[in-house]
Amino acid sequence: MNTAHKGRILVTGGAGYIGSHTVVALLEAGYEPLLLDNFANSSPSVLERLHTLTGQSITCLEADCTQTDAVLERLRPLHVAIPFAGIIHFAAYKAVGESMARPLEYYHNNLGAMTSVLRWMEELGISLLVFSSSCTVYGQPEALPVSESAPMQPASSPYGHTKQMCEQMIGDFVRANPSCAAVLLRYFNPIGAHPSALLGELPLGRPNNLVPYLTQAAAGWIPPLTVFGTDYPTPDGTAVRDYIHVCDLARGHVQALDYLAHKPGICQAINLGASEGVSVRQLIDTFTAATGAPVPHQTGPRRAGDVAQVYADTTLATQLLGWQPQFSLADALRHAWAWQQQLPETSRP
Ligand code: NAD
Ligand code: WQD
Repeated sequence: MNTAHKGRILVTGGAGYIGSHTVVALLEAGYEPLLLDNFANSSPSVLERLHTLTGQSITCLEADCTQTDAVLERLRPLHVAIPFAGIIHFAAYKAVGESMARPLEYYHNNLGAMTSVLRWMEELGISLLVFSSSCTVYGQPEALPVSESAPMQPASSPYGHTKQMCEQMIGDFVRANPSCAAVLLRYFNPIGAHPSALLGELPLGRPNNLVPYLTQAAAGWIPPLTVFGTDYPTPDGTAVRDYIHVCDLARGHVQALDYLAHKPGICQAINLGASEGVSVRQLIDTFTAATGAPVPHQTGPRRAGDVAQVYADTTLATQLLGWQPQFSLADALRHAWAWQQQLPETSRP
């Protein structure tokens, strides 16, 4: 681990899937992360695993981001003692289907937390922000690979709306506070786990996303995977996405912070993906080739709301951040499988 001190970073949602991997990357780069999480979709046990992995003590404020003023008063003395150089804002609800069924919870949590983060920046004089956005802001793009300048299509879910609205809120905030700067990281499909198998993705209940469903089905925990749609206008008829290893994504946040340090007034959207379109069938085949484990699966109709294909143009991430993925799809699937295999039976949905 790098022992240089590059500044303290507030990491909202730092106990979650992407947040926890980013905490490791921050420590490796010499930043001091301070986590803030209400464990709505994570477990405090991740803090012990972070300690085991990094050898560092991990501080986490258990708090709800939507409680703007109460959290501000807890952050103030911490900021006076050691100022926060920036905020990485992960905390949000993220299940697309759930957001259709319970839109108000999504608007309240995701927009409420965003408002709080911007208020804390204003009140405490914190100038740098890295925000977790999503390729969902593009909808079904007209041209592929999709670049940051592609026009946003209407979002297909309340979750997607919250990401578009948060991006607008941050843009307005930076325009009004030109000493601040923000990067909006538009993730494509984050997958995989830390190579140590100490960190990974464990959705509550039965997974909705492809890779956690696939690994749990391969482990025999849940019924066979259904491939949603075989009649898409893609080479093998199944839908195409851009899968990016979560550790590569995590490193992108550190590089975004480094980039922002000397860029007051900018609010820059940047794609993070592997720049490669992979079909559901290709992903299943790559998993079996990489791990030797068969994937019990069947085919079914398209899932409502799914786009046929989306993958990233990541030229900007390379040009501005010097970022490039280091792990392959096979690495990511091997790591996801290693993570699945060490999960205790009690994690079974
Ligand atoms: P996650 O659910 O694992 O992590 C989110 C964390 O935020 C959890 O630990 C949760 O407990 C916490 N949280 C939620 N609401 C909170 C609140 N009000 N106060 C404090 N903590 C709160 O999700 P993730 O996959 O790590 O995603 C992180 C971010 O990245 C989210 O903003 C998500 O929308 C975005 N994103 C995720 C994906 C993906 O596929 N995983 C893709 C694109 C964007
Ligand atoms: C991937 C592919 C499915 C499950 C979602 C959000 C997006 C972003 C990432 C947050 C699709 C197919 C899936 C299954 C399947 N999240 N599939 N059987 O839908 O691309 O993106 O997560 O911002 O906003 O929408 O990801 O993993 O659900 O699906 O065939 O059981 O796998 O149809 O083609 P998606 P996913």
